[in-house]
Amino acid sequence: MQLVAPSLERLESYAAALRQGWSPNNVRDVSGEHLAAIAENAAAFIQGLVTPAGTLTLGDGTVVPRLPGPLLWMWDGAFCGGIGLRYQPGTEALPPHALGHIGYAVVPWKRRRGHATQALRQVLPLAREAGLRWVDLTTDADNAPSQRVILANGGVLMDRVPDATAPDKLVWRIFLPG
Ligand SMILES: CC(C)(COP(=O)(O)OP(=O)(O)OC[C@H]1O[C@@H](n2cnc3c(N)ncnc32)[C@H](O)[C@@H]1OP(=O)(O)O)[C@@H](O)C(=O)NCCC(=O)NCCS
Repeated sequence: MQLVAPSLERLESYAAALRQGWSPNNVRDVSGEHLAAIAENAAAFIQGLVTPAGTLTLGDGTVVPRLPGPLLWMWDGAFCGGIGLRYQPGTEALPPHALGHIGYAVVPWKRRRGHATQALRQVLPLAREAGLRWVDLTTDADNAPSQRVILANGGVLMDRVPDATAPDKLVWRIFLPG
């Protein structure tokens, strides 16, 4: 598995995952939206992934500015998943709507092959290069696979935030050696 920048050449494999109902957004199903955007203008869609700008719609419909940071695709000859790094330049602080610096998702038919663990390992140096001394990640308390991905990359549990209507949120930190 390698991490690659989203590109037109690989877009069909990404679209195939969307057509199977996979959503790159863990909070909100955006598969239909992405397929519509690809059909409308594939080049502009890729450009939007590669140089994120503009706004982002949260699960509750709130529209917020998009944070800078690369989105990369996991690729093993076909699309396996995505991993994104986001940060505010010059600080580790995140705005309240950002659950963490790094988010990832693997398509169900490529899971349990170590892809997410490898992807996170490969993104940490990019975070360091961006000037971050640590990255924070949030998982649901019942998301054991994601917690194992973080633990395998040196993550430390920092906080547990209760949620009355959903699983507790676990906040993790990975320190990045200078
Ligand atoms: C979480 C997720 C990204 C893991 O992807 P993956 O490529 O399958 O992860 P890995 O293969 O690197 O596996 C990581 C660990 O979790 C374990 N694991 C994976 N799926 C599991 C499952 N369904 N049940 C139990 N353990 C599981 C693996 O055995 C591995 O453990 P190990 O390191 O002790 O061997 C994937 O399940 C996913 O996309 N889930 C939906 C989106 C999501 O939850 N994203 C993270 C939000 S915080």
